[in-house]
Amino acid sequence: AAIVEHTFHVGNLTVERLGQRQVITAVNGQFPGPKVEARNGDTLLVRVVNNSPYNITIHWHGVLQRLSAWADGPAMVTQCPILPGSGAGSSYTYRFNVTGQEGTLWWHAHVSFLRATVYGALLIRPRPGVPYPFPAPHAEHTLLLGEWWNASATLVDVERQAFLTGGQPANSVALTINGMPGLSHAHKEMHHLRVARGNTYLLRLVNAALNYQLFFKVAAHNFTVVAVDACYTDPYHTDVIVIAPGQTVDALMHAGAAPGRRYYVAAQVYQSIANATYSATARALLRYDDDAKDAAKTIIMSPRMPALNDSATAQRFYGSLTGLLRDGKPTVPQRVDTRMVVTYGLAIAPCLPAQTLCNRTRGSLAASMNNVSFQLPATMSLLEASRSRSSGVYTRDFPDRPPVMFDFTNAAAVNRNMSLMVTSKGTRVKALRYNETVEVVLQNTAVLGTENHPLHLHGFNFYVLAQGTGNYYYLIRKKKIRKNLVNPQQRNTIAVPAGGWAVIRFTADNPGVWLMHCHLEAHLPFGLAMAFDVQDGPTPDAMLPPPPNDYPPC
Ligand code: C2O
Repeated sequence: AAIVEHTFHVGNLTVERLGQRQVITAVNGQFPGPKVEARNGDTLLVRVVNNSPYNITIHWHGVLQRLSAWADGPAMVTQCPILPGSGAGSSYTYRFNVTGQEGTLWWHAHVSFLRATVYGALLIRPRPGVPYPFPAPHAEHTLLLGEWWNASATLVDVERQAFLTGGQPANSVALTINGMPGLSHAHKEMHHLRVARGNTYLLRLVNAALNYQLFFKVAAHNFTVVAVDACYTDPYHTDVIVIAPGQTVDALMHAGAAPGRRYYVAAQVYQSIANATYSATARALLRYDDDAKDAAKTIIMSPRMPALNDSATAQRFYGSLTGLLRDGKPTVPQRVDTRMVVTYGLAIAPCLPAQTLCNRTRGSLAASMNNVSFQLPATMSLLEASRSRSSGVYTRDFPDRPPVMFDFTNAAAVNRNMSLMVTSKGTRVKALRYNETVEVVLQNTAVLGTENHPLHLHGFNFYVLAQGTGNYYYLIRKKKIRKNLVNPQQRNTIAVPAGGWAVIRFTADNPGVWLMHCHLEAHLPFGLAMAFDVQDGPTPDAMLPPPPNDYPPC
């Protein structure tokens, strides 16, 4: 195993897109940021130097961070931010290994809205000499799907302002593929993908968008999905990929389309809400090595995209994936120690003192899990508080169940469900013993605002035992739910459909404090989050060591 070292200088970068110059926050003057490449078993050392005007942290999305919770990155959860300037606390080296993991992951800022432009790919290949569990591709292409804003102020300030006024976040003006909107092929702002005829490519897709779940297609080409969230799947053949913010997909694509043409690669918004209006598509251009020189005479083929709110296609994609069994044996824990039911969605909460423009009688738009609208602590990170046994930072009483059982199958119940809308704020976490197995039923209530919420769990991959639309409790009473305890897909982020549910299971074999939250960026400050506080195990190899010396002080 090798040591992979990087230095990330975070600072301002001026970028021009869609006819407007803008100052964004970026790493090493690159947008999207640098690609980090490693192999299973390697150790990563990434020194982050903050030359930007903002507090910064970097999260390694999907990295399990075994015994290295100090390097996970979410601000005020596992660390205080890296400060601007050149004084104490203005740099921090994230140190972790990627043992036991293979596939496409990514890194992003995990403080305020900075991940809008501070993100990049993190690729983990098999150990030297170890083949992929699928036919070796000839080459690979990494495609980071994102968004772009035209904002005169910096994006962070625009979004912060929107939050303080209790409103919705500012919508982006375009989607991007590797930072390019690709609205017109005549324009230079389009990412080009080059392929050789007859070869097979591994596409590594990341949805780095703040707010949108996406459909992804390439005209006249099909895919074989081989991994999601850096967990191998059984090969799944499809012509459309569905990917929620935070998720990744590895898919093989054979370059065998008709010669003499070019092909659009497209990422389009998928919205589960019936009256969805925001539609945007980013495009890249696929070109063959035998591409005609005379581009003007070449026809460009466009993929036929699903409708904006084609939930059937989304559910088919998500529901068809199964996990690849490496030696034929299931790895799902069959015994469950703790069962939880977590309802969640948008809600109304009383105003915070800082919310200057919040309506004091009506409250502000918020979000909650089991009616707790999650607040990040202000003085110390949860992990430090947990390890130093400090009191007053958080409480270990996150409820295992919602206050009312969510049920929208009859009118009386619907009224009761309305109480799910009024939430209280708090920093409440769920304490877990080391190695405890947890099963969580996630129920998207869709009481207020119906949308999919992609839930991301830090520090673990979880098994997706079952998922669907409707009401979990109604279906289980009718015995209509079958859990896959043999070969379920594993993930770190699940897009639970609007008014839908999922059952996930994981073993708490990693001491630390681990956030679980909605990866629609605006929903984290709204409070759509909770955390697990996992205790040390009995032996040194199950204990979190003390924090590194350069760990940022609060
Ligand atoms: Cu990709 Cu908590 O984030």
